[in-house]
Amino acid sequence: MSDELARAWDEAADGYEQYFVPRFRPWVEAAVAELGDLPPGPILVPCCGTFPELDLLLEQFPNREIVGIDLSAGMVELARQRASGHDLVSLVEGDAATLDPQWHRACSAVVSVFGLQQLPDPQQALSSWYDALRSEGRLSVVYWPSVTEEDGPFSQMKALLRPGAPAAEEDPAAVLTLDRDELVRFPITHDDAATFFEAYAHSGPMRATANARGAAYVEDLRAKFLQQAPDGEWTHRPAARLISATGRAPTDR
Ligand SMILES: C[S@@+](CC[C@H](N)C(=O)[O-])C[C@H]1O[C@@H](n2cnc3c(N)ncnc32)[C@H](O)[C@@H]1O
Repeated sequence: MSDELARAWDEAADGYEQYFVPRFRPWVEAAVAELGDLPPGPILVPCCGTFPELDLLLEQFPNREIVGIDLSAGMVELARQRASGHDLVSLVEGDAATLDPQWHRACSAVVSVFGLQQLPDPQQALSSWYDALRSEGRLSVVYWPSVTEEDGPFSQMKALLRPGAPAAEEDPAAVLTLDRDELVRFPITHDDAATFFEAYAHSGPMRATANARGAAYVEDLRAKFLQQAPDGEWTHRPAARLISATGRAPTDR
């Protein structure tokens, strides 16, 4: 599955950068702002995609090693373009769910935006990311929980894609002691429902499903979605979960 997932994100990368990156910017800002003062050490960015976290990290931490990790070669290519000219920034193409042992208790921060909800075992991934922190380091993760809004394009797509899916989910952060745990809402505006559907189906997380199920499935979904969607410009305020935790003190280790 991870090959198909990586390929889907390769194909989505340009559109994702164009459509979603500007709209998701406030959540990226919130995740990076959460880092505050950090001990020395590299900053890891699992599931970095095109690396929208990078500019903000460079502003706050100009002299750090910063490492982005993503499964998709297409995403990593765009991330490399963003990182060009910054000698302390590097990219790794690979699975970020379990971090390489070289990072164990070595990092000043792990920051990740909108990757966790895609991983097969989010709780295990969070544990792995947390274990990469040195004492007083910071984990800052923003992800989409199973319910993001009462009504809006995200909830309407979810209802069409997974009708009857249970709202409850296992808490991926159950294994951590959190310093902060909040739902963070910002407005997102789409020109209209058709524009949103196009971006969601081809340049976002639905791309893998669209590839697997085929064009007829996507057309059927589009018709159902547009039938119930409002006319004209569409603004919604989805809530993402922001969690943060501090690396263990040496005595806890
Ligand atoms: C929605 S994008 C978010 C990218 C970026 N952090 C942002 O905020 O725009 C999710 C990214 O997670 C990556 N991804 C999914 N599963 C992954 C895995 N197991 N390991 C590394 N990256 C993964 C995808 O390739 C995609 O680039």
